[in-house]
Amino acid sequence: MILDTQTLVKKYGTPLYVYDFDYIENRYMTLKEAFAGKKSMINYAVKANSNLSVIAHLAKLGAGADCVSIGEVNRALTAGVDKYKIIFSGVGKRDDEIREAIQKDILMLNLESEAEMKRVELVAKELGKEARISIRVNPNIDPQTHPYISTGLHENKFGVEIDMAKRMYIYANKSEFLNPVGIHFHIGSQLTKLEPIAEAATIVADLVRSLKAIKIEIKFFDVGGGIGVVYDEEVTISPSAYAQVIFQATKGLDVTLLCEPGRYVVANAGAFFTRVLYEKNNGSKRFVIVDGGMNDLIRPSLYNAYHKIEAVGIEGEKTPADVVGPVCESGDFFGKDVPLPPLSHNDIVVVHSAGAYGFTMASNYNTRAKPAEVALWRGKDRLIRKRETYEDQVRLEMDYL
Ligand code: LLP
Repeated sequence: MILDTQTLVKKYGTPLYVYDFDYIENRYMTLKEAFAGKKSMINYAVKANSNLSVIAHLAKLGAGADCVSIGEVNRALTAGVDKYKIIFSGVGKRDDEIREAIQKDILMLNLESEAEMKRVELVAKELGKEARISIRVNPNIDPQTHPYISTGLHENKFGVEIDMAKRMYIYANKSEFLNPVGIHFHIGSQLTKLEPIAEAATIVADLVRSLKAIKIEIKFFDVGGGIGVVYDEEVTISPSAYAQVIFQATKGLDVTLLCEPGRYVVANAGAFFTRVLYEKNNGSKRFVIVDGGMNDLIRPSLYNAYHKIEAVGIEGEKTPADVVGPVCESGDFFGKDVPLPPLSHNDIVVVHSAGAYGFTMASNYNTRAKPAEVALWRGKDRLIRKRETYEDQVRLEMDYL
């Protein structure tokens, strides 16, 4: 990321999220081109970074959206994503969410259980409409990633097993109020190996073939998200190899390929800037206390995730330090034993690769205001979300005092 950090933090304050929109564009185009050999659509997984300007930027490039709540569906619509490019997934949808999604005529609702299918049918019937659906198949494949972000095993809550999926398609195909247009799988996030994806795609493509044999034509083959990125020194999946694997699995099928990348598009576009408050030593242990906390970026605390951390423009001999925030939890850290030069009040520390699942997982714990967000594009910076204030936080409570 090319930027003048000091100018940015002076202008917008800390803690601060900064996203490189040129990088986002580049990632989107790379993936789009990898799939260019076939009918395809990239449905950006809004959960990774749902800032309206991020979604709008991708929408202008032609991206669709993968959403997991009606809130995300509405964000996608507000940001200008075409309604026929929006998928609504998720293991538990409320009736009102189902209703609104059908009324808004989005591409399809992705179903994750038989009970949910019956609910969708009922709601569609009440509306006198037909709901376009896809079914999330759980192919029982180990994606070889962190257990918290693994989703494609039967022990995970996601999707339905193959036999159940087939029964559901047969049912949906007969229903006046359901139109089964798609099929979906997503085996996990931060995947760095192709084999599990190839295996899952093959299993799911075989199901599409067996449905075709009984005259159920699936139009959209949705391979989910999950392409891993480099946080440290991972060797991860190349978009073209990924697309080839999917082409191979779906050979001979007349389907539009959908892909739902989140992290791949935005993770390395983002950085989190935080200011040093103090240094302290507890015995021989060195701590750097910064003004950002786990409420702003929870990935290290929640998954023990690695994010590269650097002090901006500070020289000096590096010694290991834990970089911690002001939140009253021992789990409030960004990095352990990070090699850092001696730091003083107001020095800036950058936490890299923070564009995905950073701001979207932020909270107001300890009544801390959420950070501001800034976009960099073609050499210019612009605010895309104001820093939250104390007043913003208490607004919904003040009337009841
Ligand atoms: N599609 C579905 C159905 C998903 O569940 C997800 C992510 C995606 C697409 C996008 O996956 P991606 O391309 O970003 O890997 N908070 C965790 C990640 C949770 C991912 C949940 N689902 C983290 O910070 O690592």
